[in-house]
Parts: sequence; structure tokens; C-alpha cells
Amino acid sequence: MATEKTFYLETFGCQMNAHDSEKVIGTLLQQGYSQVESEEDAGLILYNTCSIRDKAEQRVFHRLDYYKRQQHLGKRFAVLGCVAQQEGEKIFERAPYVSLVSGSASYCKLPEMLARLEAGETRITGLDDRQTDETFETEFTARQNPYRGYITIIEGCDKFCAYCVVPYTRGKERSRTSSSVLAEARRIADQGYTEIQLLGQNVNSYRDPEGKRSFAELLAAVGQVGGVHRVRFTTSHPRDFTRDIVDAIDAVPTLCDHVHLPVQSGSSRVLRQMAREYTSDWYLERIAWIKAARRPISLSTDIIVGFPGETPDDFIQTMDLIEKVQYDCVFGFKYSGRPNTPALTMIDSIPEAEKVTRLQVLLDRQREIQRGNYARHLGEVMEIMVEGQHPSRGQIAGRSSQNKPVNFTWSQPIAPAPGSYVRVKITATHPNSLVGEAV
Ligand code: SAH
Ligand code: SF4
Ligand code: F3S
Repeated sequence: MATEKTFYLETFGCQMNAHDSEKVIGTLLQQGYSQVESEEDAGLILYNTCSIRDKAEQRVFHRLDYYKRQQHLGKRFAVLGCVAQQEGEKIFERAPYVSLVSGSASYCKLPEMLARLEAGETRITGLDDRQTDETFETEFTARQNPYRGYITIIEGCDKFCAYCVVPYTRGKERSRTSSSVLAEARRIADQGYTEIQLLGQNVNSYRDPEGKRSFAELLAAVGQVGGVHRVRFTTSHPRDFTRDIVDAIDAVPTLCDHVHLPVQSGSSRVLRQMAREYTSDWYLERIAWIKAARRPISLSTDIIVGFPGETPDDFIQTMDLIEKVQYDCVFGFKYSGRPNTPALTMIDSIPEAEKVTRLQVLLDRQREIQRGNYARHLGEVMEIMVEGQHPSRGQIAGRSSQNKPVNFTWSQPIAPAPGSYVRVKITATHPNSLVGEAV
């Protein structure tokens, strides 16, 4: 039987959400709760939600509808994250058994909201929106990954791309001081985390409230923290991508050889409609800087197909762009009209079947590009961070600095521990992964 101070938390959406959950879990543990592994065992069920596309949002409501049958057991429900902020009190109408609705900009008030929940209140909201200047920092972060430590450096977004909910769900852009970011990096490096990932909707829009460091300087400083072996950062916005970021990667060996730079479309006309504030030429200029770096830097991107009014010619321009860039990874999405966004007032003119076709054409070609890119690693020896066992093949799974998955064999009796680094020689390649043997 579920006791009241047990909780189950599940996260949907991006890494920002995953890391917010680590902080929320830490806060709950600090308030005397204990975490359980299933909804059945929990007194309090929390969903940290995503509303980036319609499908993501629907999943949460399906889940809530399924478990509402257990509310007579005294279970309580909380909806956190982007759907919470977007739908607000409407969630209480759609799912009346929910007691707490809070967006990420209100998490600093969680201890107070939990106290009200325990006191029996059933309509608790934390819906601070774009007014807040606060960032959510806690020393109690319950890190779920034993070797990769996430650090949020900037929250919210002020870009207002025409299709995107994030500026409405995560509030206005606000950066942490570089001193507090560095203090957290030192603290977790001392605890044994060797890989640090800096997080933000747009990490490179970072502005130090103390005025001490630019994003590139902060990146370099984190890379120089003792014990730190790898530093990653997501997501970069092309508009704010400056050359000194490439210089920092060149200068500091711990900064990983990978930049995720979402382009969204190869057509400057569509980019203007999307309010991305750059053209494809401007984007390609940044790509040229990255390609001119001293070490080969792996590139990945996000692309939306079927944005309102995207013509066959616009789509061909996107195909031309992936040909020019030769990405190692593309996350492709069909446009999904979202509440409150300006694009919702444009006519969603591309039929679903056409969106499906364009996405398939894009991903098929990208697979061939990747096949070629990955094949070039054959025979190379690279350093791999071990992540665990490959589920089926008895191999060890890990990642290269370029973030490529590498599965490898190991001839010693004791397998290397997750989080350790191993040199691996690549013996076979696939479009999405590399195969090798430890040397
Ligand atoms: N801040 C990042 C992206 C965050 S959202 C950036 O600006 O690049 C992650 C990705 O989801 C976006 O890059 C975009 O490709 C996709 N996305 C966002 N809104 C979408 C929508 N309404 N429909 C389809 N895909 C969307
Ligand atoms: Fe969304 Fe654009 Fe902000 Fe990225 S930059 S989170 S796509 S509004
Ligand atoms: Fe989703 Fe919110 Fe992240 S909408 S992608 S969880 S910022």
C-alpha cells in the first residue's frame, strides 16, 4: 500500500526537463519523501511534461487518465513542466484529480507548494510566467547519471520562433552567474563526475549577470576545472553563435568535438517566416568556422519539415543544405501547430501525408550521408567513455568525444566501469554507430 510520502516521477521532453527533474527529486527527498519505481507504489505521482509537439502533450493526458482510477487509494497527482505552464488551471478541469500544477519558472517555490499539498490543499499552482528573474538552483540535486553531470547555465527563451512554445512555457531568458556555474562544476568534479554538460534552450545566448565571462569564456573555464575530462553544451542558437566558441574548442582539449546547431530549414524564406533571424548563408558561414577548427568537429542539427507555406522548392533547399553540411546526426520533425504561437495563425497548408513524405526523404538521404561519415572512422583509435553493456550483443557501449555511439569488445575478465575511459580501435561502421575493440 502506498504511503503518503512516497513519490514516483516521470520525465518527458528535453534534457532541460530531465535535469529539472533531478532538482525536483532532490527537493522532494530533502522534504522527507522517498522515491519509488512505479506509479502503483507511490502516494504522489508527478509528471514533468513536454509540450513541444502535440503528440508529446497528448501522452501526458493519456497517462493521467489511466492512473486516475487509483485516486481512491489516496494518491495525489502533480503536473509539472511545459504542459503545466501552458495549460495552467485548465488542467484541473481536464483532470480534476490533479492537485498541483507548476511550470519550471516556479520550482523555487516547491517546498512551500509541497507543504500546502501535505496540508490537504487540492488546487495548488505555480504559474509564474515571463515576469520571473529567478533561476532554480538547489544544492540537493539528485543526479540520476553517475558520471555525466548536467548544469543549467541559462533558463527560458526570448527568441519567440514562430512555431515554438518554449518562450511561453519556460519564461524569459535568465542566466546564472558564471561564478555559481563554476562553483557547481568544481563541486561535482570533486564528487567524481568527469563529464559536464552545460544546458540551456540557447546556451550561447548566455549573459553573465556579473559581467565576468562570455559564454565562450565560461565554456573554457569549465573545461579547465580539475578532474573534468569532457564538456558538452546544448543547445546553441545560430543567431548567437560566435567565433570564439570555436576558438575555445581549439584551445581547451576537454571541450568535446561536437556542436549541435539547429538550422530548422535550408530556405531563407521559410527561416524568415519562422522568425529565426538568420539566413541559410549566415548559418553556413558559422558552419564554415566550425569546419575550419583544428580538430574535426562533429555537427548535428534539428529540422522542421512542413512549416506553413513550405513549398517543394523550400524543401529542396533544406535537402541542399544537409548536402553541404554533411551532418553526423539530424533530428527531423514534422511541423506541429502549437497553442499561443504566431505560426498557429498561418494556414497549416502542408497535408500530413506530404509532411510524412518530406520527413522520410530527408531522413533517408541523411542516413546515406551518415553512412559515409561514419565509414571514415574505420581503423581509427579513439577514446570512449563507457556507458554500460550493450543490451543484446555482450559488448560494451560508450560514446566518443564527437558523441557517436561506439560498441566494443573487451578481452580482460573485468569489464570497464561506466564512466571510465577506454581507447578503442574501430573495426566496423554503421550509419548510426561504430564497432570496435579495446586496445
Ligand atoms: N532552443 C532550441 C530548440 C528547442 S526545441 C533551438 O532553438 O534550436 C527542440 C526542437 O524541436 C527544435 O529545434 C525544433 O526543431 C523542434 N520543434 C520546436 N517546435 C516545434 C513544432 N511546433 N513543431 C515541430 N517541431 C518543433
Ligand atoms: Fe523555441 Fe526558438 Fe527559443 Fe529554440 S530559440 S526554444 S526554437 S523559441
Ligand atoms: Fe519540451 Fe519544454 Fe523541453 S516543451 S522540449 S520539455 S523545454
